[in-house]
Amino acid sequence: MKIKILFLSLLTAFSCSQQEESKNNINSKDRVTQKVDSVLSLMTLEEKIGQINQYAIGEEMTGPSEKGEQAEKRYQQILSGKVGSVLNLLGAENTMKLQKLVMENSRLKIPLIFSYDVIHGYKTIFPVPLAESASWNLDLMKKTASVAAQEAAASGLHWTFAPMIDVSRDARWGRVMEGAGEDPYLGAEIAKARILGFQGNDLSDPFTIAATAKHFAGYGFVESGKDYNSMNLNREVLLNQIIPPFKAAEEVGVASFMNSFNDVDGIPASASEYLLRDILKGQWEFDGVVVSDWNSIGEIVNHGTAANLKEASAQAINAGSDIDMEAEAYITHLATLVEEGKVEEETINDAVRRVLKLKFELGLFDNPYKYSDLTREKETIQKPEFTEVAREIARESIVLLKNEKDLLPLKSNQKIAVIGPLAKDKDSPLGNWRAQAKAGSAISLYEGLEEAFGTENLIYAEGVKLSIGPNTFHQKTEIEEKDKSGFEEAKKIAQKADVVIMALGETAYMSGEGRSRSEIGLPGLQLELLEEIKEVNSNIVLVLMNGRPLTLSWEAENIPAILETWHLGAEAGNAIADVLKGDYNPSGKLTMSFPRRVGQLPIYYNHKVTGRPDSGPGMVFYTHHNDVDSTPLFPFGFGLSYSNFEYGEIQLSSNTLEADGSITASVEITNSGKVSGEEIVQLYIQDEVGSVTRPVKELKGFAKEKLAPNESKTFTFTITPEMLSFYRKDNTFGTEPGTFKIYIAPNSATEEYKKITLQ
Ligand code: NOJ
Repeated sequence: MKIKILFLSLLTAFSCSQQEESKNNINSKDRVTQKVDSVLSLMTLEEKIGQINQYAIGEEMTGPSEKGEQAEKRYQQILSGKVGSVLNLLGAENTMKLQKLVMENSRLKIPLIFSYDVIHGYKTIFPVPLAESASWNLDLMKKTASVAAQEAAASGLHWTFAPMIDVSRDARWGRVMEGAGEDPYLGAEIAKARILGFQGNDLSDPFTIAATAKHFAGYGFVESGKDYNSMNLNREVLLNQIIPPFKAAEEVGVASFMNSFNDVDGIPASASEYLLRDILKGQWEFDGVVVSDWNSIGEIVNHGTAANLKEASAQAINAGSDIDMEAEAYITHLATLVEEGKVEEETINDAVRRVLKLKFELGLFDNPYKYSDLTREKETIQKPEFTEVAREIARESIVLLKNEKDLLPLKSNQKIAVIGPLAKDKDSPLGNWRAQAKAGSAISLYEGLEEAFGTENLIYAEGVKLSIGPNTFHQKTEIEEKDKSGFEEAKKIAQKADVVIMALGETAYMSGEGRSRSEIGLPGLQLELLEEIKEVNSNIVLVLMNGRPLTLSWEAENIPAILETWHLGAEAGNAIADVLKGDYNPSGKLTMSFPRRVGQLPIYYNHKVTGRPDSGPGMVFYTHHNDVDSTPLFPFGFGLSYSNFEYGEIQLSSNTLEADGSITASVEITNSGKVSGEEIVQLYIQDEVGSVTRPVKELKGFAKEKLAPNESKTFTFTITPEMLSFYRKDNTFGTEPGTFKIYIAPNSATEEYKKITLQ
């Protein structure tokens, strides 16, 4: 009875605000605010705290769990409205069931939000995000995010913890596979595309889901690339290099931000008032939700800035972390903290308002079950046209790193030896974070080759094994290092072939969260196998599958053709075969520098000039390593094509840029090759003098276009003062007059520029 009365008053609260709304004709933002306030006014402190409490649950949680007291306690909390959102419960049926239980049992009947890590596809798996970024195709990345959203939403989900938009410069960090590489500008453009793909224009559309900008901030800069490590990050680098993708995310209306695990300026990010109150919710006026990372509020205690979980809770909520994922910090301590005056109830109200607002925007108050639709789930998941999108983006993500001896594309009627542990692997191409993909469901390279070239032209040997034991998200991958018994067979078939395709690299779980490596060459005995195969047949096309840049110095020196195919997703084998056969002309370009050696890491093209930039031959006292060239093996922005693109001289419309004006910079590019192909043209700018030290160059624009053989096209970029802006010595954002170098080039390793002056 009591419940009924309350529900009626909840409904009255909505309808009163609806009547008023039509009276005053108020805009939809105010409308949501009013509705949120109406609901909030009915809530007890306990219920409010419930809304900012989040648990991960398995499918068994649609009924009382058999997994002991803890799970039973959580289940009861969910039913009684003491949990506002859950992660990892999937499927229209399961989400419908649990939502129903919440609607039937909780006092206020506030619907749950269902969330999950939908990173590069839900059921239809696309290339890992680092691979996709190499396509530089924003429309296509938006499309893959949109397909992922359609599948996830049809499975009852409302919210993804993606995209990861951490700028990352150290390939030892396993999570580089999850991001868009080392550049803040490209990272920002890709962040926007992915967020708009997930969210569409309307969060209440049941084919879209809310997105998360993560991890705020600095997670990609963990020291020595070791996951969860601390870091040394100064404010200027934070603002100019790490923040831009997050600012862009906020500008396109991302629904949520996630804290990062690391500390910034000595404060764990989940407790950072500077990041959350000053920047995100202050300067940017972000009105969405901030969710902690998994137990990151609990980990404030491990960081050592809080003595216990209670102190950590106070720090996190006061700093602006709205939702506690998995730490049970808020649910356990916030009520007491309010009683003791250590946390204001208004601080909790603000966090709850944000959660309720998201629920309204998702349309859950109108219909809590709208996403959980069995028919739509069946119709939407793995639609055939989604597979087409997977093949399209996979082809565009491939980067041709080397192509000598005219090896590629392969010629017809060649005898092809296919060798390597990844050649027939149907699982590794799915990559880490593959959501609901069925293990081993990717098209393997070998299957793709069979389809493209016919089985009769192929001979196969595994050569060596790459990993032993379970290869899963939760368990460490052990590399098989000892057994060379397959070498002889591999060499035998290599001898018989016109060309050898070596499929080498990393399995899916050698990169990703918790998968940092101190050596990033080909794991195990793969390099040794490659060296031995080269002795018997040097016509080798090295097809790499991996989730991070690798050190490939010997390979680059000794192997004539190298194709970087990353972990390309469900359609991997078909996409690679398209490129090997020449049905698709490779167009991808790297979004992370490939080092020559691990000792160069972190390596990135937009580094600072330093006080001792370079010197003549034989000199000692300047910035360098004594034993390796300072350049990367393959620079940011690099990638070859079967076409040949020739760049003309840069033309400027003026050498002077007024503070409120714009100028253009153009270049004519000719495809002097024999086949048509796409080129990714890149605009870089260097600010020569600034109030803070500035990078040697920074990407500020790009275009990807197709040119037919002998076709010339003029690519024009408009340069505005905004593009020359940065966070200055006083931490304000803006320009400074002076001279700038303008580069238009096929990659970041370019020295040809024209100068302009900003008035
Ligand atoms: C930890 C990861 O750091 C984060 O990115 C992810 O969203 C959460 N786990 C939830 O799975």
